[in-house]
Amino acid sequence: MSIIYDNNAKSFHLTTKNTSYILNVQEDGYLSHLYFGRKLRNFNCNNLLPLKERCSFSPNPNPSDLKLSLDSLPQEYPSYGTSDFRTPAYSIRLENGSTITDLRYESHKIINGKPELKGLPATYVEDEAEAQTLEITLFDSLIGLKVILSYTAYENYDAVTRNVRFINCGSENLKLLRVLSMSIDFNNSDYDFLHLHGSWARERHIERTPLIIGTQSVESRRGSSSHNQNPFIALLSKDANEEYGDVYGFNLVYSGNFLAQAEVDQYNTTRVSMGINPFDFSWLLSPNESFQTPEVVMVYSSKGLGEMSRTYHKLYRKRLCRGAYRDKTRPILVNNWEATYFDFNAEKIEDIGKAAQELGIELFVLDDGWFGKRDNDNCSLGDWVVDKKKLPNGLEYLASRINNLGLQFGLWFEPEMVSPDSDLYRKHPDWCLHVPDRSRTQGRHQLILDLSRDEVCDYIINSLSNILSTVNISYVKWDMNRNMTEIGSPCLPPERQRETAHRYMLGLYKIYEKLTTDFPNILFEGCSGGGGRFDAGILYYMPQIWTSDDTDAVERLKIQYGTSLVYPISTMGSHVSAVPNHQVHRNTSLKMRGDVAMSGNFGYELDLTKFTKEEKETVKKQVEEYKELRELIQFGDMYRLLNPFNSNEASWIIVSEDKTEAFATYFRVLAIPNEPIRRLCLRGLDPDKNYSISDIDGVFGGDELMYGGITIPDLYGDYQSITWVLKAI
Ligand code: DGJ
Repeated sequence: MSIIYDNNAKSFHLTTKNTSYILNVQEDGYLSHLYFGRKLRNFNCNNLLPLKERCSFSPNPNPSDLKLSLDSLPQEYPSYGTSDFRTPAYSIRLENGSTITDLRYESHKIINGKPELKGLPATYVEDEAEAQTLEITLFDSLIGLKVILSYTAYENYDAVTRNVRFINCGSENLKLLRVLSMSIDFNNSDYDFLHLHGSWARERHIERTPLIIGTQSVESRRGSSSHNQNPFIALLSKDANEEYGDVYGFNLVYSGNFLAQAEVDQYNTTRVSMGINPFDFSWLLSPNESFQTPEVVMVYSSKGLGEMSRTYHKLYRKRLCRGAYRDKTRPILVNNWEATYFDFNAEKIEDIGKAAQELGIELFVLDDGWFGKRDNDNCSLGDWVVDKKKLPNGLEYLASRINNLGLQFGLWFEPEMVSPDSDLYRKHPDWCLHVPDRSRTQGRHQLILDLSRDEVCDYIINSLSNILSTVNISYVKWDMNRNMTEIGSPCLPPERQRETAHRYMLGLYKIYEKLTTDFPNILFEGCSGGGGRFDAGILYYMPQIWTSDDTDAVERLKIQYGTSLVYPISTMGSHVSAVPNHQVHRNTSLKMRGDVAMSGNFGYELDLTKFTKEEKETVKKQVEEYKELRELIQFGDMYRLLNPFNSNEASWIIVSEDKTEAFATYFRVLAIPNEPIRRLCLRGLDPDKNYSISDIDGVFGGDELMYGGITIPDLYGDYQSITWVLKAI
């Protein structure tokens, strides 16, 4: 049993393999939070929740209980206005203009397994025994508002998920102004706050700062989870590092605007909250309607960041990603984007295909520029009809030519967009997000289709389905290259305009669901100018995402290392590109570019026809090596060893579940004169096993390699890398 209810204490104890999450119902019906952390055998509510009389500035809802103030009570789903002055989890405007609500415990049920979230991505179970779900119903009797807090405890996956459902059982219209997916109160503030931030071509850099009194938050107002801040935060004990210390991770399974924050209050408690960004959001909930929030996945680790990451990785690989490719190794691809940009024809594509075939590459991906009159990024998005000037015999023919070479064929789309210079826009100028009489801001000369409208979603589904069902396509790259502006939909009444951004996400998820169900054997890869929408919401539909438009091997060390904090290696698209690199103009060796790209879904994104004989030999070897190792790389456990954010080096090791195989990499960015001898302690191996190591004579104990380390050979010059393959013998 993962969830135990104690009727005397009115407490709920959710347990997973290593974690306890405890809450209880106070006498007055308030739902309070007692504990989240290392697994407990048992507990005493009064001990975990000491209440204390405070001054008159922390008022008491019940005058006869001076120890109860919502201002200091750790809560599960707090509101503003009835004595808690901290950040509320929700806020609702009633018809009389007031925002005062009063939610009290009404009932609960414990369910085996995990119910689906209607219309939203979420982690799932394959067998009811994998998890239990607690649904607590809170009720405001004055307005007939029901709020169902849902908690799932995954025993072996070691995570707790939360989401909330609002149901209007009353007779008046309710305006939801803030509907976060979770709130949790920690009884101290002795933590660091960690999050992932960045920019286009510089995604998911790690930032760790001490928590301070006041509020620290990350958010997106861009209509997508964004390059800039990721819907993930963690609290870390001060001593936490990769292997030691307490870490609490929070990740929102959502691809739109989000807010994640930690607030330290006057009593040094910390309130963490996360959900859809209340900024520019509201939702009209009429009688009998309900609203479902996205899910938050919470992972506690007593063994540092490394263990937290591995828990997320396993859960996401097995119970967030879906479809034929969830457990299947991914093909090695070549993508023509950085090879040709818009300037290609059928002959050029076939030439790259031939070169790819000779090198052992398995999938050819035709990127942007194959449709409409798309010779540059000024036009044609929305017109998903092949450009006969570039590809006179059409897509079917091209795909068959590529297939005849023994390669699968993949195609790029940017379905959510429309170019003002397109037949689609000329026919339906009102199909984009816009506000009447206001100008329409363009990004990369494009506007965003209004996915809150069914007919627009149907158009996308139909135009893609036509192509996917007639051309032999094995892979789709789904791109999205701008953020939302003038967010509004002519189809929604004024009081619902601020629902548009979330309705867009619901429309997007509906399209994804339909296409991935109708074409179950296609491998879908998400993309948004690289990693502008690298989030758990996308991963529910598409098991991999293009990690960044920055393909420079040195930049990728940070990007992939930061991304790996939450997202598994099997989700990261990672390609070798040309030098000088197109984003940063740096020259790195083919070896280093290959070694970096191998820690992901491997591929090439350059003109293969331009390789010298020597380069071809190197690439052939890389391809062969990756084929041998990809099962391990894509589905093994990752242990980060050296952090590129605070050193000149980076290193990690990927170990098979049974610890019989491992792939370790080491990167040194700049040369160091007269370098000291460096030893690298590996992690994740079986101390009792003996291993052979590629290119090194001898047999080495797992304990020796982890606690004594291995010597890093002398390296000369900048941008050096080494890989080791370990096999238990
Ligand atoms: C942005 C993507 O991230 C690139 O890989 C490429 O597909 C371009 N868009 C094409 O326009």
